[in-house]
Amino acid sequence: MRTPVIAGNWKMNTTVGEAVALVRAMRAELDKVSNVEKVLCPPFVSLAPVGELIKGSSIKLGAQNLYFAEKGAYTGEVSALMLAGLCELVIIGHSERRQYFGETGEVVNKKVAAALGVGLKPILCIGEKLAENEAGKTEEVVSGQLKSSLAGIASLDGLIVAYEPVWAIGTGRAATGEQANETIAFIRRNISGLYDDKVAREIRILYGGSVTAANVAEFMPQPEIDGALVGGASLKAAEFLSIVTQTSAMG
Ligand code: PGA
Repeated sequence: MRTPVIAGNWKMNTTVGEAVALVRAMRAELDKVSNVEKVLCPPFVSLAPVGELIKGSSIKLGAQNLYFAEKGAYTGEVSALMLAGLCELVIIGHSERRQYFGETGEVVNKKVAAALGVGLKPILCIGEKLAENEAGKTEEVVSGQLKSSLAGIASLDGLIVAYEPVWAIGTGRAATGEQANETIAFIRRNISGLYDDKVAREIRILYGGSVTAANVAEFMPQPEIDGALVGGASLKAAEFLSIVTQTSAMG
């Protein structure tokens, strides 16, 4: 009932030329895969060219960030409205943004509101750090992040949550399927508390952190996991395609 999502977060990788080549290498095959929502999130500068290449296909486009102000003197920033004409989704609150760019729960909340305000679907990232995990604080951390990110947001309108334990991102040390499923079940219960059962049943919650073609089969059969946010492995056409086709076969 919840269509799985596989989103590729390219992070700060690929020149425009490389982005175009990567999409050309997988576009036709990716387009054919059914029962999976396929999302590519290239850097800002490649959104328009990648958007052109996937026009008319079943592949969707997402940005990796936005700034919450409507417009004005914010040199270097990109607003929700600027993205609304280019893509359908936007990653918000990625742990790298929280870690390197000082994004707080309040900032993430404003960004979620800005995205929803123009009809962009946020992929809201939450997840605990290694020390928090080891201290048994995972649930406390993710429920706190969820609450602050969604403060004052009345309707989630297609928002997707990505549970990404920080210790699993880019480390090759993925969570186990059971661990991810358990925390995602907890996140879903939290959403039920913040909204209602229907919202919680319908919202897609992804796992992210060192997902590859070799381990995706561990996550997708888990009942609470509705897909993956894939970093490193989304930069290789054959590997990303394999993640998507395996997900489709397990659906
Ligand atoms: P990774 O990144 O797949 O390279 O661990 C995931 C993410 O940061 O979204």
